[in-house]
Amino acid sequence: MKILVVGGGGREHAVIKSLKKNASVTKIYALPGNGGIADDAECYPVKATDVDGIVKFASEHPVDFAVVTPDDPLVLGCVNCLEAIGIPCFGPRAEAAIIEGSKVFSKNLMKKYGIPTAASESFSDAEAAIAYLKTQRYPVVIKADGLALGKGVIIAQNAAEAERAVREIMCDKIFGASGNKILVEEFLEGPEVSVLAFTDGKTIVPMVSSMDHKRAKDGDEGLNTGGMGTVAPNPYYTEKIARECMDTIFRPTVSAMNAEGRTFKGCLYFGLMLTRDGAKVIEYNCRFGDPETQVVLPLLESDLLTIMQAVRNGTLTQDMVRFKAGAACCVVLASDGYPQKYETGYEISTPETGKDEFIFVAGAKKEDGRLKTSGGRVLGATATGDTLKEAVRKAYALAERVGFENAYYRKDIGGRALACLREE
Ligand SMILES: Nc1ncnc2c1ncn2[C@@H]1O[C@H](COP(=O)(O)OP(=O)(O)O)[C@@H](O)[C@H]1O
Ligand SMILES: [Mg+2]
Repeated sequence: MKILVVGGGGREHAVIKSLKKNASVTKIYALPGNGGIADDAECYPVKATDVDGIVKFASEHPVDFAVVTPDDPLVLGCVNCLEAIGIPCFGPRAEAAIIEGSKVFSKNLMKKYGIPTAASESFSDAEAAIAYLKTQRYPVVIKADGLALGKGVIIAQNAAEAERAVREIMCDKIFGASGNKILVEEFLEGPEVSVLAFTDGKTIVPMVSSMDHKRAKDGDEGLNTGGMGTVAPNPYYTEKIARECMDTIFRPTVSAMNAEGRTFKGCLYFGLMLTRDGAKVIEYNCRFGDPETQVVLPLLESDLLTIMQAVRNGTLTQDMVRFKAGAACCVVLASDGYPQKYETGYEISTPETGKDEFIFVAGAKKEDGRLKTSGGRVLGATATGDTLKEAVRKAYALAERVGFENAYYRKDIGGRALACLREE
């Protein structure tokens, strides 16, 4: 089997390492991949947003199966195009990827089918939104409709802040056409949980839950980032809550998408908030989350390729997806200064890894055979263990063995989860 993986981050590195465990996989092409992925796959400089380039590459190479993981190509219809030239794919078609591509679409879907979520109003006119915002209680949440690199959500503390956000998104178009519409949403409180699930449009099988750490600094201070670390499972997400989510959120979402003629096949990501009134959907993603994937896949016991093919073929069953007991922790090593200004080009020394340790490379390139930093988030140091405490300890021990000048990482990944376990 020759497999094409679209994308080039830590998530794709984790996916590729899992796919490689299947003995029938003889080659993996990564578009564009990165300097670390290059140790596990053949990388070609085709951008993940260049759907025409991806389709051209796929038509010129012997690709038996394609895995499309980033949001942009999914929303742009990369799977539709690859399937049209006869390449079976893991990932939703554009009609279904809209569940992430438009927050207004997904909010209307949840309202129509009674799926619990924050109350909200949508606007396509800035002045109407601003007039409405003058009547609201604060804080209020403002969301650009479309993809915005994880920067399109603003929690406004008062009407002036809200108005500024609306003007930036809708008038100045800081996120381009993604800001043609916005949602104004009720502010919810409670622990957040990420749940990734495989679905073939009939069966949905949740993966082990996880917890992201979005802020740059310890104690959840500092700016929002693409994610500074993750742990799995998320101790706030009890079995009881999981059963409730299956009945009130997961199955209803799959049915709702079918009823809309937008059958979703792939990895559906549920961003949940566990409020006092039960679990509510904060957002859907149409793909694996990053860095959630870096803790979820190392705990997957079953064969990833077999699951992905079953998702594509509509033959997914519950018993196909098994997870190990135990826990995982991923500590993201970033270039100091991220998510603002940072320097790149520093040589990275990666340590030997044991069987419970993984280095997933995100922002690095190979230069004269040497791995050098090239992005804000450089790599994820992940470890699994019998307990969360052990996984956290091992992930930090691994992080300390990775060397590059300028490295920055949070020191408290998993801290909140461990505190939750102590309270139980
Ligand atoms: N209604 C809400 N109430 C409180 N916090 C929210 C709400 N919606 C979003 N957030 C916060 O903002 C973050 C980003 O919002 P999300 O909808 O996940 O958008 P994206 O991931 O596309 O930026 C969430 O992880 C959550 O912390
Ligand atoms: Mg989110």
